[in-house]
Amino acid sequence: MTVFENIAQCLTLQGARTKKGRNATQQDLGIITDAALVEDGGIVRWVGPRRETPKAYAQAPRVSAEGAVWLPALVECHTHLVYGGERIQDYALRCSGKTYQEIAQSGGGILSTVRETRSASLEALIDRASHELTRFTAGVQCLEIKSGYGLTLESEIKMLEVVKALQKRTPLHLVPTFLPAHTVPPEFKGKADHYVSVICEEWIPQIASMKLATFFDAFVEEGYFTVDQTRKMCEAAQKHGLGVKLHVDQFTDQKGALLGAEMGAVSCDHLDNVSKEGIAKLAQSETVAVLAPGASLFTGTPYPPARALIDAGAIVALTTDFNPGTCPSHNLPLMLTLACSQMKMSIPEAIVAATFNAAQALNVQDSYGTIEVGRPFKVWKVAAHDFNAIPYAFGELD
Ligand code: NIG
Ligand code: FE
Repeated sequence: MTVFENIAQCLTLQGARTKKGRNATQQDLGIITDAALVEDGGIVRWVGPRRETPKAYAQAPRVSAEGAVWLPALVECHTHLVYGGERIQDYALRCSGKTYQEIAQSGGGILSTVRETRSASLEALIDRASHELTRFTAGVQCLEIKSGYGLTLESEIKMLEVVKALQKRTPLHLVPTFLPAHTVPPEFKGKADHYVSVICEEWIPQIASMKLATFFDAFVEEGYFTVDQTRKMCEAAQKHGLGVKLHVDQFTDQKGALLGAEMGAVSCDHLDNVSKEGIAKLAQSETVAVLAPGASLFTGTPYPPARALIDAGAIVALTTDFNPGTCPSHNLPLMLTLACSQMKMSIPEAIVAATFNAAQALNVQDSYGTIEVGRPFKVWKVAAHDFNAIPYAFGELD
């Protein structure tokens, strides 16, 4: 048992949990100033103002938090961490005026990473991904990882085996997502419907029976997968016990958010071009709207409508969307700065978005996202005396 003292501010986020992370205010952060916290066996036993620490803990060892801000550990709810090769040339092409879609049509983009990932060995992918994992900031303790650069059953399994191997090497809690519908692979060019039926009838049952993934994901976009194709895949995934997360309305409005809400998806991610109707449906649902401002920054496209989503009552989370094509950044705290400065989110909204709401986007909100008695001790200890310093620090506070 340890009694931690001298915590300048402890953000419990208790109020945020009560409101399921909607419309977060400063009051929902549950800020305790000059706090103490009692931890035992990895569980929070007591948290409150230091002056009120119960006498029962008087003999327990004491540790000073040195005047830091404590808040729930960050949850990174959307990454494409496992991949082969690199995409520096895509970026150079974008900087000379080509769009993401144009680069993809000429054989670059996701398909170029698919070629490199297929030819990479399991060991090489593990080494590369382990390195990428160490570059996430210390505040992140839970992280989702998608497949999606294999697109044959064998190489998708290889990617998910990488996640399994990483889980044995890291204290981070990893959540694997099966993303076979990232793009139509060359073997099925012009036969997307056939590819979708193979995913539904063969791949989803296989991945589910091997227990390699918690979630299924698809990229609903012009030139990728339609709403009708995605509905079929979601139904197959749910039938086999996988939760659903979707990439929707990123470059064009495809009514992907409507599908996500209809299917009871755990999250709908991107939403840069979501319609008013999509916003309203998400707001009425439990589906988390996961926003990736780093992808907008890096591709030079408009930011997602965070304000409209939050004001309508949607549950909004933030992610890096770490991937080699649209956001090679590991810096989730920087995404809070982008959220506040570019998407006009308040600082409490951004903090809830990267903690409790990101946990909801992975269905791990019982273990992550709040600091409360009886719950796991998962804390981000920030060397600052004021929580507002987190987005202010431009991604440099760790
Ligand atoms: O989340 N939008 C689709 N998937 C990724 C990009 C993947 C890639 O370009 O390699 C994303 O932005
Ligand atoms: Fe993505």
